[in-house]
Amino acid sequence: MTKENATSREGFTSKFGFIMSCIGSALGLGNIWMFSYKLGAYGGAAFLIPYFLFVFILSTTGLITEFTFGRYFKAGSYIGINTLFKKRNLKSGKIIGLLPTLGITGIFIFYCIVVGWVLKYFALSITGKISTIDTQTYFSNFSGTSSSIPWFLLAVVITLLIVISGVAKGIERLNKIVLPILFVIFIFLMFKSLSLEGAMEGVRYLVIPRWEVLLNAKTWIMALGQAFFTVSLTGCGMVVYGSYINKDFDIPTSSLQTAIFDTLAALLASFIIIPAVFAFNIAPDSGPSLLFITVPKVFQSMPYSSVISSLFFLSIIFAAISSSVSMLEGPVETLLSATNLTRKKATILVSVVCFLLGLPLAVNIGMFGQFADFITIVLSPIGVLIVAICFFYLFDKKTLLKAVNQGSKHPVGSWFVPLGKYVFVTTTILVIILGLIYGSIG
Ligand code: TRP
Repeated sequence: MTKENATSREGFTSKFGFIMSCIGSALGLGNIWMFSYKLGAYGGAAFLIPYFLFVFILSTTGLITEFTFGRYFKAGSYIGINTLFKKRNLKSGKIIGLLPTLGITGIFIFYCIVVGWVLKYFALSITGKISTIDTQTYFSNFSGTSSSIPWFLLAVVITLLIVISGVAKGIERLNKIVLPILFVIFIFLMFKSLSLEGAMEGVRYLVIPRWEVLLNAKTWIMALGQAFFTVSLTGCGMVVYGSYINKDFDIPTSSLQTAIFDTLAALLASFIIIPAVFAFNIAPDSGPSLLFITVPKVFQSMPYSSVISSLFFLSIIFAAISSSVSMLEGPVETLLSATNLTRKKATILVSVVCFLLGLPLAVNIGMFGQFADFITIVLSPIGVLIVAICFFYLFDKKTLLKAVNQGSKHPVGSWFVPLGKYVFVTTTILVIILGLIYGSIG
């Protein structure tokens, strides 16, 4: 029995708090800067077919797997995998068990650098400076230089302060407050964007299906990558969240709700960004340049630009911090379960190490890109794969189904086992191979 098991383990206090925290983790920059671009670029409404298919079949299976794994062992993946390996007399449980934690720690490092950029743009917005800058030059002079370091530090410190406060008082409380506000801001901004002159062309770009793109393999690959990245599967974060719930929480329903609200947020973000970009005749693009060059340019042409821009970047801060806390909680929980450190010490230790490791990346965009690619293409999906294999191949069928369905009003049938064992595991391997071939697909 681990130290955490022996003493009382922290946990979510309500189902609402748990769901909000899972949606908070899932809903992040990927929903905003990748989904909206992909939706337009890969066939408009036609893209939704492969995307829905992957999100509702594979991502939901992945979430059910990770939540159940955590709840079953009442521990994160490090202890869970170790326990399972010992029981089966398998070797290397310690090393293999650590990989999912390493993956999510890597995500935390590069994600916080970007959260720092968002914080900076929020500051530029509330001070009104955003309307005076040349967005292109500004962004290239800021990102990847030492001026971004204090903002990176701020992102780490904000996340640290929440995680230090604990699961219920920190993470759950944050998500219960910011997630509803985020949805309200998104809906407001969507109406604002749709009311712009010329916005309908952007709407057409998003909704008119171009079916022929479904014949292009890349559409399916991009949808698959998006589906994997967007619900935050890493074999660690969602396992840890699952370890904080008890047996009357409904895992299949919670997984589906996480996927639904995550998708809803991605759709809202698309209907904020793309119509506005079209209204001002700017070409939409993906990734950082969409958020830090294109969108601010759009704001500059709008009346009340600093108010709208502040609201926009505030909502992105909410989306990003609710994700970064779940990333930091991963390694913190692993440390807590493997050592005698207190939560405070463990959180500070992980944060300091991550900040120091992130420094060279924060000042070198090329290295930042390579690191982010390695983590998202290779290490993090390997973490997903490890937990999925442990779950579907090392559990017996009866125990597995019982663990999934405990507390569920809509239990999954025995079809769930082959779905996980063959379809989910194979697709995860495919995600890694395709990521290596095509570069980043998430
Ligand atoms: N889902 C998040 C997004 O869309 C990013 C993400 C990927 C993530 N893996 C994660 C967040 C693990 C928290 C934990 O931006």
